[in-house]
Amino acid sequence: MNTPQVRVTGLSKRFGELAVLKQVNLAVNAGEVVVILGPSGSGKTTLLRSLNLLEQPDSGVLEVCGQRVEIPANGRFDRAGRKQVALLRQKTAMVFQAFNLFPHMTALENVIEGLVSVKKVPKAAAIERGQQLLARVGLAEKANAYPAKLSGGQKQRVAIARGLAMDPDVIFFDEPTSALDPELRDEVLGVMREVANTGMTMLVVTHELRFAREAADRVVFMEHGVVVKDCPAADFFGDNSGERIQQFLRRY
Ligand SMILES: Nc1ncnc2c1ncn2[C@@H]1O[C@H](COP(=O)(O)OP(=O)(O)O)[C@@H](O)[C@H]1O
Ligand SMILES: [Mg+2]
Repeated sequence: MNTPQVRVTGLSKRFGELAVLKQVNLAVNAGEVVVILGPSGSGKTTLLRSLNLLEQPDSGVLEVCGQRVEIPANGRFDRAGRKQVALLRQKTAMVFQAFNLFPHMTALENVIEGLVSVKKVPKAAAIERGQQLLARVGLAEKANAYPAKLSGGQKQRVAIARGLAMDPDVIFFDEPTSALDPELRDEVLGVMREVANTGMTMLVVTHELRFAREAADRVVFMEHGVVVKDCPAADFFGDNSGERIQQFLRRY
């Protein structure tokens, strides 16, 4: 078996007195779709944000797409460490609950921003790629629309196109449909399934159990900063997943 695309070893994070992640270990293979479930406050967002160092953990080792980052004991990366962090980030994309589009840029401009400013792709080539990606998420005709004129589902699809534009090896999704009205969720989940079908490695925090059941290879269940269960999705939704999981599933 290949080295996992994402491997987290001994990841811990406190916010003051509160231990939010406690020695979390996790491995995700290339092409796997892993859904992270768990009650609110269990540390799911902090885990995802730690994986690309949007949040700096207190300790642990991250290996993401071949980039190894060990969190320094004093919290300060040296020059080599900073370089590793930058390389790691370039191989990942993140889709947020609140979309995080630039309001003063059109859909197309949002999608190509990183291509032009970070990857230095010539403008004409970036525009062509951006239009392809907008077509892929079903928004070819919205290229020149500003976010304020888009529905939540459309905004999230633009955000996914923006993530894909950076050609990441892994995409992290943090509750991508939680801010959406129920009737807009399916269009976003449909795009996510399509991306999953291309073989993209995906880590998805969500409460959409149907998506987890149908699209996930594995489910990771977190509670109080600990991975309580990490198993194939079929086992998680099966009858023998244990009392705590059954209780959680009955609530949703
Ligand atoms: N920046 C922060 N400062 C202080 N506490 C935080 C911060 N971010 C998250 N927390 C706390 O850490 C815990 C885990 O939060 P989070 O990772 O957002 O959980 P989840 O995504 O599972 O709901 C919660 O108790 C939350 O209030
Ligand atoms: Mg969260």
